Amino acid sequence: MRYPFRTRLEWRKWVVPEPLRSRPVHRWLVFPHSFTDDIVRALAEEWRLGTGDKILDPFAGAGTTVLTAKQLGIPAVGCDLSPLATLASSVKVAKYNMDELQKAWSSLRKQVKVRHANGEAKAYPELVRSALPGKKLATFHGAKSAIAELDAPPRVRSYFQLALIRQIPQFSNAVPTGGWLSWRPNRRPAASLADTLSVTITEMIADLGAAHHPRGRWSARSADARSLPLEDSSVSAVITSPPYPNRHDYTRVFGVELMFGFLDWEKTRALRYQMMHSHPEARPKRPSSDGYSEPRFIADAIRQVAQHDERERLVAMLHGYFLDLYLALREVARVLRPGGRAALVLGNAQYDGVPIEVDKATALIGRQVGLHCDEIRIVRQRGNSAQQMKVHGRTPARESVVLFTRTA
Ligand SMILES: C[S@@+](CC[C@H](N)C(=O)[O-])C[C@H]1O[C@@H](n2cnc3c(N)ncnc32)[C@H](O)[C@@H]1O
Repeated sequence: MRYPFRTRLEWRKWVVPEPLRSRPVHRWLVFPHSFTDDIVRALAEEWRLGTGDKILDPFAGAGTTVLTAKQLGIPAVGCDLSPLATLASSVKVAKYNMDELQKAWSSLRKQVKVRHANGEAKAYPELVRSALPGKKLATFHGAKSAIAELDAPPRVRSYFQLALIRQIPQFSNAVPTGGWLSWRPNRRPAASLADTLSVTITEMIADLGAAHHPRGRWSARSADARSLPLEDSSVSAVITSPPYPNRHDYTRVFGVELMFGFLDWEKTRALRYQMMHSHPEARPKRPSSDGYSEPRFIADAIRQVAQHDERERLVAMLHGYFLDLYLALREVARVLRPGGRAALVLGNAQYDGVPIEVDKATALIGRQVGLHCDEIRIVRQRGNSAQQMKVHGRTPARESVVLFTRTA
């Protein structure tokens, strides 16, 4: 196969999350692996999508695709396995009544100042207790209980739940750095939870005041991208970014948020196993993969990686990653209408100097499921880690947007 490469490095600023941190509503929660709304806008224009279309993001993350679709007035649905991702996405696209929000906030604000739940805080998993020791967790738990008891509709409670979870990084001793959690014991926050929460909610309410509310349907649900709860041919476009095969485990990076807000230790572990095989601890239950054939150059690259010692789990991860991509692409092809378009933002990896060309493999695997690759748009060249650079020299890895059309 000849690969339809095209370089568009002016898109590089759109595959990093920074611009989202100052953009209304998007900034309510930004993931370190989010792309920006510019990508969704550019593709919607390129594909001439409108109100009669429907966009899907099967790896919705913080909800950039569904929220941007809402801002453009194009119906959209997002799916993700992580409850933190589905909360963020659904809160960002929900419709609110400002009076209802203001009323709930004035009752909640009083509670947050006075409620501390020392006893109940002991029931949280150890990671949460270590990250938010002593009074910190008691105050967070008090706020969480006050939100749960609010006399308000579920979407209003979810709105405040997201605002509360957003406070965790300011208080936690466990800090995400790149794809990992590192510990900074005895961090002292500059302000109280009531104060930081108040700043966040004031900003969130102001964002809503400026938001445009078109008519249409936007939602996010909990689902596995390998078996989507959607009808055949029910969407006209897919704009998404699966995890990259970089070993980052979202259930660890967001372990405090997940176990404070949603899941106990066992359920967090179950989520870790079920996530896409982009980290070595995954061991997902998958639908049948009949029809999958691993691209030969990927099999060769993995064989080279396998020559190094103690690589079993990495090797299993890489085989599993491409199998998962096949299953996710098969679902994309099934739910897309014929002629529908798909864009996947992907990053190549390298291990021991061996390049793992995810973009090319995706183009080939797409062919196995009825997706024609129109273009591999190279948008960024990422440098390798300092450690790898010392041994293997500077060998940048591509970040690309792989564009498909669903064949009839
Ligand atoms: C790269 S992030 C998506 C970021 C998103 N584009 C944004 O702008 O925030 C990948 C997402 O895939 C989710 N994920 C991992 N495995 C999944 C699976 N099997 N099914 C659905 N979602 C999954 C993760 O929870 C994560 O939120």
